Parts: sequence; structure tokens; C-alpha cells
Amino acid sequence: MTKLIGISGSLRRASFNTALLRAAAELMPEGSELAIKTIDGIPLYNADVEARGIPESVTALKDAVAVADGLILSTPEYNYSMPGVLKNAIDWLSRPDADIKRVFGGKPLALMGATPGGFGTILSQAAWLPVLRTLGTKLWCEGRLLISRAPSIFDADGKLTNQTVIDQLQRFVQQFTEFARTSQRNSSQI
Ligand code: FNR
Repeated sequence: MTKLIGISGSLRRASFNTALLRAAAELMPEGSELAIKTIDGIPLYNADVEARGIPESVTALKDAVAVADGLILSTPEYNYSMPGVLKNAIDWLSRPDADIKRVFGGKPLALMGATPGGFGTILSQAAWLPVLRTLGTKLWCEGRLLISRAPSIFDADGKLTNQTVIDQLQRFVQQFTEFARTSQRNSSQI
């Protein structure tokens, strides 16, 4: 079983990015699963808080990512970059830095994103690249999922209704899951 984690970079109840992850979870290939984890409850990073101990919500998410075969970040775009709430969560997951290798090192990672705008979160996804490289993730670059005009492809309940996008998302999760599965096999051979 290939076990992936999905994290949405939005706390909004009717978030398009969370809805995109839910749609992805339904399209996962046989022998794999996508568990959606929330960043709700992760506090603002504060080194004074860290000095008193890593918060339980952070430890739980860190441990979930550490044991996952791969991670999908569904990222909104804010002011042509990544949203602060998701960067804050990833920053927490990188603490203490002695744990970065266990949590992120060689971790198959895919980026996707949805926006009501016309450019599909392309600048947000680009802004993530130096962060993900710094953390030593194994970024999957063969596929790209840029969802524009989100209100026209999700219904009022957040269900993905556009068949072209459903097909695109299905190819995306299939190919990334295969990448994660193969990476897992290769690392277990080292
Ligand atoms: C946005 N939004 C936005 N969209 C975009 O495509 N490019 C951008 O640079 C921005 N900038 C931006 C800044 C701020 C502060 C907000 C609050 C919003 C719109 C954004 O894509 C929209 O709110 C999405 O619906 C957010 O994603 P969720 O919450 O639907 O997942």
C-alpha cells in the first residue's frame, strides 16, 4: 500500500485547495491512499514556544509526514507567492532542524494548487521551490497541476465537476503515486 499525505494551504471551510485534495483522494489508484491532514491548530512559529517544547499538533503532523510515502501540497497563491499559514506550518515541521532529514529528506513531494484567478497558482508553486529544495524533498516535477477559474469547476458543495480537470487530476495522482511507490522501493534497496 502506498500511503500519501495531502496538506491544504488554506484554512477556509469552502477552500478550493482542500476541495482539490478531496477530489484527488477519490481518484487514487488501487493499492494507494491519500490521507488529508489539516494545518488548523498549528500555532504561529515562535522560538520561545519551541524552547518550551514542540506543540502536540506539530509533532502529530511531523510524524504523519515522516512515515508517509509521499506528500502532496495543495497551495493557494497569495500576493504572487505562497500563503503564510502553509509556510508557517512547514517551518514548524522543519523544527528542530535535526529532524529535517527524518521528516522531509528524500520525501516524494508534489505541488498543486487552485485559484479563482487565471494563472493557476503558478507563482505560488514557483515560490515553494527553494523551500522544498532546502528541506531535501524529492520534488516530482514531471507533472504540473495549475487549476484556474476554480469557481467554475467546483460546485457549491466543493465537488469537482469539470471532466477535463477530473481526468487531468487523475493522471496527476496516478503518476505521482507511481513515483512515490518507486522511490519507496529504491530507498528500501539502499
Ligand atoms: C489572494 N488570491 C490570489 N489569487 C491568485 O491567483 N494570485 C494571487 O496573487 C492572489 N493573492 C491573494 C492574496 C490574498 C491575501 C488573498 C486572501 C487572496 C485569491 C485566492 O486565490 C483565493 O482567495 C483562493 O480562493 C484561496 O484559496 P482557497 O482558500 O480557496 O483554497
